[in-house]
Amino acid sequence: MSRVLIIESSARQQDSVSRQLTREFVEQWQASHPDDQITLRDLAVNPVPHLDADLLGGWMKPEAQRSTAEAQALERSNLLTDELLAADVLVLAAPMYNFTIPSTLKAWLDHVLRAGITFKYTPTGPQGLLTGKRAIVLTARGGIHAGAVSDHQEPYLRQAMAFIGIHEVDFIHAEGLNMSGDFHDQGIAHAKARIAAVA
Ligand SMILES: Cc1cc2nc3c(=O)[nH]c(=O)nc-3n(C[C@H](O)[C@H](O)[C@H](O)COP(=O)(O)O)c2cc1C
Repeated sequence: MSRVLIIESSARQQDSVSRQLTREFVEQWQASHPDDQITLRDLAVNPVPHLDADLLGGWMKPEAQRSTAEAQALERSNLLTDELLAADVLVLAAPMYNFTIPSTLKAWLDHVLRAGITFKYTPTGPQGLLTGKRAIVLTARGGIHAGAVSDHQEPYLRQAMAFIGIHEVDFIHAEGLNMSGDFHDQGIAHAKARIAAVA
């Protein structure tokens, strides 16, 4: 039995293509991995706090020196890293907003790229501490960006995942969703075919 953690980040519930891709993923994954446990965290419904002084204090100060607010911020943040540490498979579902990921997903990453927990600094540079995990990234984009300089999702997420030790990452993009003609339907069909292959 493996644990799958899904992070949703579209600001919309209705008509969201990235959420449609997630539903497709869950259906396919459950068919091929019926015993797996799937956990879903929806950053639109339950956004995680941005980094602030309390959280940084909670991370950096010894326990005895933490204020109540710092201790609470640390506890909230630890829930997110614990959830990631427990997962074998991480699924990030992300619309493209202004060429990159939603700020809600960036805020989640700011919690889980955590020194001493998911990476550490060594004399030769940073080292990812997560081993044996894979990630699948489902994106929805109004235009077409794969392989272009306008794509600030895939290179950034690849870097962020590698930094914490997740090197096996599949990107599945539904592109051209806001373009006229057949792009919308083709983009979704292409992504669903890729999901079937990956799941
Ligand atoms: C605020 C905002 C910014 C967007 N920025 C981009 C963009 O930079 N490039 C792009 O191709 N599509 C952009 N889009 C289109 C979305 O990526 C597209 O509608 C996608 O389907 C949204 O994901 P969702 O369907 O899961 O909500 C933007 C949409 C919104 C609402």
